[in-house]
Amino acid sequence: MQSHIDAFFEYLRFPSVSTDSKHKRDVESCADWLVARFKRMGLDAQKHATPGHPIVVAKSKPNRDLPTVLIYGHYDVQPVDPVNEWKTPPFEPTLIEGRVFCRGATDNKGQNFAHILGVEALLSNGGLPVNVIFLLEGEEEIGSPNLPSFLKANQSSLRAEICAVSDTGMIGRGIPTMTYGLRGIGCLEFKVHGPSLDLHSGVYGGAVANPAQVIARLVGSLHDSKGRIQIPGFYNKVLPLEKWEREMWAKLPDGDASTLKETGSTGTWGEEGYSSLERRWGRPTAEVNGIGGGYQGEGSKTVIPREAMAKLSFRLVPNQNAEEIITAAAKFLEDQIGNSCRIQVTPGHDGPAYVMDPHSNYGKAAQRALQKTFQAEPYLIREGGSIPIIHSIKKILGIDTLMLGLALPDCQIHAPNENFTIENFEAGIQLNQNLLKELAGLAK
Ligand code: BES
Ligand code: MN
Repeated sequence: MQSHIDAFFEYLRFPSVSTDSKHKRDVESCADWLVARFKRMGLDAQKHATPGHPIVVAKSKPNRDLPTVLIYGHYDVQPVDPVNEWKTPPFEPTLIEGRVFCRGATDNKGQNFAHILGVEALLSNGGLPVNVIFLLEGEEEIGSPNLPSFLKANQSSLRAEICAVSDTGMIGRGIPTMTYGLRGIGCLEFKVHGPSLDLHSGVYGGAVANPAQVIARLVGSLHDSKGRIQIPGFYNKVLPLEKWEREMWAKLPDGDASTLKETGSTGTWGEEGYSSLERRWGRPTAEVNGIGGGYQGEGSKTVIPREAMAKLSFRLVPNQNAEEIITAAAKFLEDQIGNSCRIQVTPGHDGPAYVMDPHSNYGKAAQRALQKTFQAEPYLIREGGSIPIIHSIKKILGIDTLMLGLALPDCQIHAPNENFTIENFEAGIQLNQNLLKELAGLAK
């Protein structure tokens, strides 16, 4: 185990922040490290350049009689800020009370490295029961802009029966969880431009539009008092939750309580008529991810800022079309502007939701592997986060994805002090082996 942890720490030390061009070389070095690791295991590994960050593909020696499992993951990580809220340096992995603290520890290096070590263990214990193709990208956290075209261009060499991904969550410690659906996402950013320069708010206040106030009004118009999104047509294509899902989720540990505990919020909020888990996993949302404009410094400054901005993202459910939603949102915002200022909307990345049948043969095999690993009955859930490439894997490669995540509710992904438990690291290594053995039993 110590050598596994040492290797994990090496992997974690690369500050592979995909969104920040300052880290381009670090992302690249991380890909090189993976390729070297795969080669040492005897896999045929390659780094593929893209217009952005590289894609790493590694294959076991193919055996024509065995089915093939594609294992997808990402080696890029989120930015570390706010950096002063970290208790340990964000790129110096630190083991405290059974948890490794580091950016990327859970999302997603720890989870994909457990798969790598599982395959390594099988290789040194008599060989693999299936063919394995690892597909690790460096751009998941920025919306995988280059992976769909890579899948299209390499369809035949990436041919597999099923895909496995560990990049989702567990309900709690030791509770095996299979995620059978994820929300999609659509992002946009908008700026409101008012006067051509910052103005004295006494001299001009009350006579020209204040962009910061316009932004607040627009953001405030997104929801009604019942938490419903007011963009025309927003709910048109939404597939309602199915009865069996609502019943199954109602039996899970109290979602309102866990939502409050995990978030530290003082009360829940959301669309009327739905539980917290339904709101998080099965209903679409509109969120403000960033908002700014005007004076942010100490004390007061009497100014009308010349511009203000907001960044929005919409979480989408099955059957909603991300581009249509972004277009409808842009129109909704633009229609409210009038002639006292200007608005500029810039669409961002997007991707559809994904659902698979947890009761398919592959789904059942995954549940058996979870049961064996954790010695408990797995829970079936959907989750609110997005991994848009999973839909592309279905569309382009024609295969489903089994989502066997190891992220705990308190692992702090995307936040300061991200961490991964050694317990789940070890479980992940076992889970990979149990999964590949279960999948080997299914007909090719
Ligand atoms: N691993 C997450 C997605 C996730 C988190 C799924 C928790 C289920 C539970 C992934 O790395 C991620 O953060 N994805 C982004 C999407 C992307 C397009 C920026 C997200 O969900 O915001
Ligand atoms: Mn992430």
